[in-house]
Amino acid sequence: MGERVIPLIDQRAAARWVPVPAFAPTGELLDARGRPLHDLRISVTDRCNFRCSYCMPKEVFDSRYQYLPHGDLLSFEEITRLARLFVARGVTKLRLTGGEPLLRKGIERLVGQLAALRTPGGEPLDITLTTNGALLARKAATLAAAGLRRVTVSLDGLQDEVFRRMNDVQFPVAEVLAGIEAAHAAGLAPVKVNMVVKRGTNEHEILPMARHFRGSGITLRFIEYMDVGATNGWRMDEVLPSAEVVRRLQAEFPLVALDPAAPGETAERWGHAGADGRHDPALGEVGVISSVTHAFCGGCSRARLSTDGRMYLCLFATQGYDLRALLRGGAGDEAIAGAIAALWQGRADRYSELRASLPADAEGGARRVEMSYIGG
Ligand code: GTP
Ligand code: 5AD
Ligand code: SF4
Ligand code: SF4
Repeated sequence: MGERVIPLIDQRAAARWVPVPAFAPTGELLDARGRPLHDLRISVTDRCNFRCSYCMPKEVFDSRYQYLPHGDLLSFEEITRLARLFVARGVTKLRLTGGEPLLRKGIERLVGQLAALRTPGGEPLDITLTTNGALLARKAATLAAAGLRRVTVSLDGLQDEVFRRMNDVQFPVAEVLAGIEAAHAAGLAPVKVNMVVKRGTNEHEILPMARHFRGSGITLRFIEYMDVGATNGWRMDEVLPSAEVVRRLQAEFPLVALDPAAPGETAERWGHAGADGRHDPALGEVGVISSVTHAFCGGCSRARLSTDGRMYLCLFATQGYDLRALLRGGAGDEAIAGAIAALWQGRADRYSELRASLPADAEGGARRVEMSYIGG
């Protein structure tokens, strides 16, 4: 076989690293830093019914904003075909995101199609979804029946006034809490709740949130406010480091460090301790996701598929690779699977680890893609 040319990959970035074998001894696909491909996060719509300032600020995402036209979106059949090819290459976890994935019409049908997929070893997939919870009370039972395993709900506070301000569409907290309850009741377990912490905005909600979810069977995770996308006006002084979140929690609840549930996972886990000082599973756990102060790129096994079918190798990427063109150009499964493998093998991204050392214009003026398009 002649030399293989990997299209569109920046070889200068790849050349800085000592090459590692592109397959593990197990046959698993590896990227240029030796990381396997395990998770695929699929954005099914770039629209949302909330306007969280850290994600889709109202001033930018207003009535003039150009969302993707319907024909640009991958169809459910196209998504399922790509997901099948990713699964054949090692993916075991699928996450549906957006925008707000429950706004995509017929999402239950897509969940059903994805739930029918199997790993090469015949195992079912871990299929989950990230939602703002607004439509969850209505949809939890049908999503579970369609084959969804679990959900993660975003919730930034319990005080109605704080929450309404953060979602910026005056959406009441009670309806999200009802959605979380419905998901729990439908067995979409473990339900996780993600709270983005912004210093000076909702930091006083950390302890009330922890009190509320302690012992509820729901896992609360605190996310450091990130500089993702190009529109949220991120400033370091609005980041509350996770170490400070844990310190505040520990002042009220005894916590013990837990091992990661899976390699390369985003969250650092802390268990609520019982009277004996050991983790009490009945009290549950909390997590912190510290992309800014403690990067977790080293084990990052996540690929992203944008609403219009581009594959992104990092949440902070400025460019994606157009798999839709292959799909719609009539490429066969092998050609598409080959492109996915080649892109992954050329991947050297580790933005969060490099953040502090990157010059302000490291991307040469290119705009980072928005999280609502690429999927959180
Ligand atoms: P599970 O623990 O399996 O439920 O999934 P997860 O840890 O991937 O969690 P989730 O999808 O809820 O991600 C939580 C948050 O972490 C996201 O909303 C993002 O803010 C952040 N996040 C997820 N993946 C990445 C990533 O690859 N890089 C960075 N920097 N942040 C990420
Ligand atoms: N920083 C941290 N988390 C973010 N999310 C969206 N934008 C940001 C940001 N700038 C999170 C949301 C939600 C998921 C979709 O991504 O809270 O949990
Ligand atoms: Fe919508 Fe989630 Fe972004 Fe908020 S964080 S605007 S709910 S996609
Ligand atoms: Fe993965 Fe990029 Fe996030 Fe690092 S910054 S964990 S490489 S998606």
